Amino acid sequence: MTSAIDPELFREVFGRFGTGVAVITSSGPGGPGGMTANALCSLSLDPLLALVCFENRARTLPIVRAAERFAVNVLASDQEHLAGVFASKLPEGEKLGGVDHRLVEGVPVIDGALAWATCDLRELIAGGDHTIAIGEVVTMGLGGGEPLLWYGGEYRQLERRRR
Ligand SMILES: Cc1cc2nc3c(=O)[nH]c(=O)nc-3n(C[C@H](O)[C@H](O)[C@H](O)COP(=O)(O)O)c2cc1C
Repeated sequence: MTSAIDPELFREVFGRFGTGVAVITSSGPGGPGGMTANALCSLSLDPLLALVCFENRARTLPIVRAAERFAVNVLASDQEHLAGVFASKLPEGEKLGGVDHRLVEGVPVIDGALAWATCDLRELIAGGDHTIAIGEVVTMGLGGGEPLLWYGGEYRQLERRRR
């Protein structure tokens, strides 16, 4: 099947690009917030830059804009419930309420994350109905476990290839 301007097909095409799952957290003058995200990638090694794409309606975007900082929390396979919480429209203040976390450089880092990085916001670039946030990594660390994956609109787990 081919089509030039079918948003559903677009979703399916890019849904076949398997990714990890992260929660982008921040904390500004109005309090903390966070959003599940997979439109995320490393951008530059010198300096260390990462980028995240925020839907313009995401409530986490104005928090990041005000705080000028955010954290990338890469979720582990046993954190699927957190992906659900942060993909929801629960009041922003409630999302982190029941989640064990600590503040690093003023932004929430979720306990048990597979990996994490805190970033200083360097640039916000308009991209259609999304905004690309470029952050410079300030601190980062590794946790343990296996990754939570997202493929074809579903959460998946890593399976080792049998030899
Ligand atoms: C697996 C997954 C990946 C997502 N990736 C993104 C993303 O990269 N950017 C985005 O803006 N929303 C993404 N979303 C949707 C947001 O998590 C959702 O709109 C959330 O309610 C935003 O929260 P907020 O309004 O509190 O910021 C994703 C959702 C899921 C389940």
